Amino acid sequence: MRQVVTQAAGPLRGTMRVPGDKSLSHRAVLFAAMAEGTSVLTGVLDSADVRATIAAVSALGARVEGDIGAVLRVTGWGADGPSTPAGRIDCGNSGTTARLLMGVLAGWPVQVTLTGDDSLSQRPMARVTEPLARMGATFETAEGGTLPVTMRGGALIGIDYESPVASAQIKSAVLLAGLRARGRTIVTEPAPSRDHTERLLPEFGIEVGREPELDLCWVEGPAVPLACDYAVPADPSSAAFPLGAALIVPGSEVVCTGVLLNPTRIGFLLVLARMGADVLAEITQRDSAEFVGDITARFGREMEATLIEPDEVPSLIDEVPLLAVVATQAHGTTRFEGVGELRVKESDRLQAVADALTEMGAIVRSGADWLEVDGPCALRGAALDSLGDHRLAMAYAVAGRACDGEMSIERFEAVDVSWPGFGEALAL
Ligand code: S3P
Repeated sequence: MRQVVTQAAGPLRGTMRVPGDKSLSHRAVLFAAMAEGTSVLTGVLDSADVRATIAAVSALGARVEGDIGAVLRVTGWGADGPSTPAGRIDCGNSGTTARLLMGVLAGWPVQVTLTGDDSLSQRPMARVTEPLARMGATFETAEGGTLPVTMRGGALIGIDYESPVASAQIKSAVLLAGLRARGRTIVTEPAPSRDHTERLLPEFGIEVGREPELDLCWVEGPAVPLACDYAVPADPSSAAFPLGAALIVPGSEVVCTGVLLNPTRIGFLLVLARMGADVLAEITQRDSAEFVGDITARFGREMEATLIEPDEVPSLIDEVPLLAVVATQAHGTTRFEGVGELRVKESDRLQAVADALTEMGAIVRSGADWLEVDGPCALRGAALDSLGDHRLAMAYAVAGRACDGEMSIERFEAVDVSWPGFGEALAL
């Protein structure tokens, strides 16, 4: 589907609650499926990615009832373990589904084949299969270590894993496998990635050891999660789009309520504040697992370019396309360093963003793992393709709300992966 976006829709004004956090929705459903008993989950994101996780755990024997967006009741397989599914499990576009499931299944005597769409079938899986194989699971992958992957779980032993990449998906897969392993499973990362698995597992009765100064965490196995009731807060990575749009569309003011304010997820807010943007986050709730609050963004303040350093990249990895669009309106050269991981997301986001901004008339330079954006620049409409990547579709739509002329975005339906109502929220 082709979406046309122009600045004619005028300023964005109002208060909104964006849908539930994608990372937490996947984890809440997966942990509930692994647990003994029935968990009651509210605020779970109703999107294609999370539906893939729900379909997967259902095929593996968990019982999922209710309405995703409202109240979801998940009865887990607990100590009995998952059952062998009738067919292959299609993870769709969702890397989190595929990689975390591998960890969930690694310690059970089942054989499962995981598949994905064209984008997911090109993304690296060896980063997860390699440590899980070391623990005792068996994998057959397509050439190049990609999906489809057929895995057989085994009797696992805990490992001390030094991940070469700061990736929450790798860390989570190894920790979840660790729940079925004998002894301690330790993961160390080169920089802190999002820590939702570490924060949410204790809600399901699992202790997680942590040494944050060393970017290290561990679990002791074997251990079975226990059902719990959990409310998923709104997704900061989705909120970033209307907030970013408010900063570049004259006359705008947007408030996003009930947003997850986990410190490993709000790097984009710190960067925007550093640029001088008018953004304000206020914590309204601090439960045992996560911080939650409201974020306000207003158009009007002049923004200055900034340097985004490699260590802060994991905390804003999904917001780089949006930040790059905002950077076109800041004074000076904004430089993103250590963003090579963007090349193995739902598309090669580094190349795609550089190409799209150039089409819009911005001055952009990029290298293997860096991106520079000069500003300020008057964006002009362009004919773009989301490449089936939800974050690109949304970032281009934000640019379209501030451009001269008409921005047309092919394959706009990609937004359904994380925010099916995005078009209406941005008044497209
Ligand atoms: C996610 C982790 C991130 C992020 C993705 C969701 C998660 O990937 O890009 O959208 O839920 O664990 P990494 O594995 O690179 O951290």
